[in-house]
Amino acid sequence: MKLSLRFDYNNMMSDFIGDKGITDKEIVDNIKYARKAHRFVEENRGKGWLGWTELPFNQEKIVESINETANLVRQGYENFVVLGIGGSALGARAVINALTDLHHNLLPQEERKAPRIFIEDNVDPERMAALLRVIDPAKTMFNVITKSGSTSETMSQYLIIYDLLKNKLGLDVKNHIIATTDAATGNLIRIAGKEGLITFVVPDGVGGRFSCLCPVGLLPYAVMGIDIEALLDGAATVCDLTHNENIYENPALMLALLQFLSIKKGKNISVMMPYADSLSSIADWYCQLWGESLGKAVDNDGNVVNAGQTPVKAVGVTDQHSQVQLYTEGPFDKVITFIGVEKFRETVEIPEGLEDMPNVHFLCGHTLNELITKERMATEYALTKAKRANNTITLYEVNPFTVGELLQFFEFVTAYIGDMLNINTYNQPGVEEGKNATYALFGRGGYEEKAEELKNAKQKEDKYII
Ligand code: PA5
Repeated sequence: MKLSLRFDYNNMMSDFIGDKGITDKEIVDNIKYARKAHRFVEENRGKGWLGWTELPFNQEKIVESINETANLVRQGYENFVVLGIGGSALGARAVINALTDLHHNLLPQEERKAPRIFIEDNVDPERMAALLRVIDPAKTMFNVITKSGSTSETMSQYLIIYDLLKNKLGLDVKNHIIATTDAATGNLIRIAGKEGLITFVVPDGVGGRFSCLCPVGLLPYAVMGIDIEALLDGAATVCDLTHNENIYENPALMLALLQFLSIKKGKNISVMMPYADSLSSIADWYCQLWGESLGKAVDNDGNVVNAGQTPVKAVGVTDQHSQVQLYTEGPFDKVITFIGVEKFRETVEIPEGLEDMPNVHFLCGHTLNELITKERMATEYALTKAKRANNTITLYEVNPFTVGELLQFFEFVTAYIGDMLNINTYNQPGVEEGKNATYALFGRGGYEEKAEELKNAKQKEDKYII
């Protein structure tokens, strides 16, 4: 099957942005990096931490059981709450935001045809209190999602909800909590067994930020009525197409090489700018994928490289009135990736009016669809004129198939560029350090050494606090 996404990289090239761009010769001269990255991914599909490449093909049974559970939740519950963080929440927010009504929770029940959805990815006490003010726990299904089964944020949310359901309300937790976690390791799988919770497994070889197409994401999507088979079909198209080693026919490989060469030229910031509110959370998901995968202190040979490209979210047209001034005239340190949509699912006309004000009236008779599209084209033009590297990925429309393509596309881009940078794309030692320091600050057993290290760390000085 052919990829429906279109990748346009004209404005990355020196033909369009002069010496700030990349030449055809540079692509040819560096093709060895692309070939090596492609070979690595091909040879390791489904192995080690590349389990995610097989998710579109090996989940037939699990999809059936997810759809069954999702139907039960859809019929029996008013609210569905995701408790998770990082890769255990961002996929759900990205896909649900893309594929359900933007004001889903505010629609009357008969129009929404799915529970209200809450994705709680923080431990801000005000947020937890606010959630509990607007949901009736007796009419709520909570999906606790943690691959490791031990993340402090998610486990503390679990403790609060368990206590509320069981001790305070006397409810049977089995009817209100679904666990999604690793089959063997961590605390949640043990708790789930003991409490008899419906449990879905995060497959081996699928890390948090690559988990949006496994039960971590699939259950929340299905609860919201999203066609998860179509989503996986879209992802499968990308998996199939990326077997192609020809960089001119494999857009994920081309984008990875262009970003790799851009980093070498000092473009250390990657802006993702969807021109569609429905895709704005895809940019948040991308920020985690790109940031956590590529930001590494050492390379695979042990050299200190401090690699990475800082991901930034922007939304068109909103950020034209915020960040685009910087993108057009500030430092030449960014690559902007626009995500465009050809056909919006709604058409909104701008009616006639204000005939005596030509500088407003020119909009009349047009549509918001035209306005958002022309503004994207205009911003692309302005950036290119100012010699700013940019590229555009176009979806013919936002639907489960194209969203599946988009997610899988960026996972492949990340895998390719990680190999080009010669780093470990799949670990997160920088995150672990913070997690361990939190355990030490709480006096958790086994972290005494870390607690000592923290105690001996240089203390802040009053002279620098005003
Ligand atoms: O990508 C990752 O591995 C992380 O961002 C995790 O998703 C995040 O730390 C949450 O981990 P867990 O699912 O184990 O609770």
